Amino acid sequence: MTTAGKVIKCKAAVAWEPNKPLVIEDVEVAPPQANEVRIKIVATGMCHTDLYILFESMKKESFPMILGHEAAGIIESVGPGVTEFQPGDKVIPLFISQCRECRFCKSPKTNQCEKGWIETQHVLKDSRFTCKGKKIEQFAGTSTFSQYTVVNQMAVAKIDPSAPLDKVCLIGCGICTGYGAAVNTAKVEPGSTCAVFGLGAVGLAAVMGCKAAGAKKIFAVDINPEKFEKAKVFGATDFVNPKDYDKPISQVLAEMTNGGVDYSLECVGNVEVMRSALESCVKGWGISVVVGWTELHDVATRPVQLIAGRTWKGSMFGGFKGKDGVPEMVKAYLGKKLLVDEFITHNMTLDQVNDAIELMKHGKCIRTVLNPFPQ
Ligand SMILES: NC(=O)c1ccc[n+]([C@@H]2O[C@H](COP(=O)([O-])OP(=O)(O)OC[C@H]3O[C@@H](n4cnc5c(N)ncnc54)[C@H](O)[C@@H]3O)[C@@H](O)[C@H]2O)c1
Ligand SMILES: [Zn+2]
Ligand SMILES: [Zn+2]
Repeated sequence: MTTAGKVIKCKAAVAWEPNKPLVIEDVEVAPPQANEVRIKIVATGMCHTDLYILFESMKKESFPMILGHEAAGIIESVGPGVTEFQPGDKVIPLFISQCRECRFCKSPKTNQCEKGWIETQHVLKDSRFTCKGKKIEQFAGTSTFSQYTVVNQMAVAKIDPSAPLDKVCLIGCGICTGYGAAVNTAKVEPGSTCAVFGLGAVGLAAVMGCKAAGAKKIFAVDINPEKFEKAKVFGATDFVNPKDYDKPISQVLAEMTNGGVDYSLECVGNVEVMRSALESCVKGWGISVVVGWTELHDVATRPVQLIAGRTWKGSMFGGFKGKDGVPEMVKAYLGKKLLVDEFITHNMTLDQVNDAIELMKHGKCIRTVLNPFPQ
């Protein structure tokens, strides 16, 4: 029986309010409207940004919403005007769209599509979800903690049909974010020295990016030493736990590297760590990239740090334009040029979403992949 054109009733994890466990609910997912596609979510990862929205940012007006933005699925049906996708296509939803028409899409310098950024900042007000008669907002325009979701076609990447969706879902956020921050934003050079702060999936992907770019030394920095073994798998050569030192970590790294690293990447989301990462860079040419997410605090440093020639940059989704970059990254994985499976420490069902949140909160996982359709 075809579901096209009909409301789909399915399960989703609803965040009714900040700082509370998600609740598995029966939701209604309306058919896709003009330029939209409805996607059956086959696998979704849990990223720290989902936790940030739930526990840290806590903008009450964004709730109730459905979180999740790192997923892969299959097109169930398409709305009027959609020519790029057909039912059955394997896809990865994008939290930064690529409309290909705005001035940002036309520039090779950025992935900040104007349409996506305005329409999907945190929530898509015009959501296709309802639950118990209430409209449920759509986080990042994606809302992948659901069996089905509706996304604008400009925020969907079509991928190789042979790709295993329960693996490549991680390319939808963490892997592209960290890898691209090193390769596209920092533009790490062969023979250089790098430091990556925070060794979650984003930081480990940054380590992998530094290695792919030919860095000769990669310092992996984390206050949780359990992460170091995994960092070695992705190419880290040196391991630093700031808790082992009683002086600033920027000073420790400067002493270890004759004045500082060439590139540093902050993958934590903490403004103090952002400052340390910048100040760990060598004067003259050091480049530091802010990847970790927070909108709650200001970031600071002394101007002389920049005057002396350091560059401070930021990177969203690793600078990748999603429709172009995501299929390429999937191809790289299929061609064994990119590690993906190694990020997955846990597999769970969507019903266990709160267990996955607890694991991440306590630093006990790299990535948990959730299956919305367990047998
Ligand atoms: N810029 C983007 O487009 C983008 C995309 C995805 C995620 N993010 C952000 O990237 C960050 C990392 O995400 P993740 O999913 O890898 O998170 P995660 O929770 O899995 O990993 C964070 C790591 O940082 C470590 N850490 C905490 N405090 C630290 C400190 N003071 N010094 C060193 N390490 C410390 C933790 O032990 C943990 O290993 C988050 O802030 C997330 O919101 C940004
Ligand atoms: Zn993410
Ligand atoms: Zn655009």
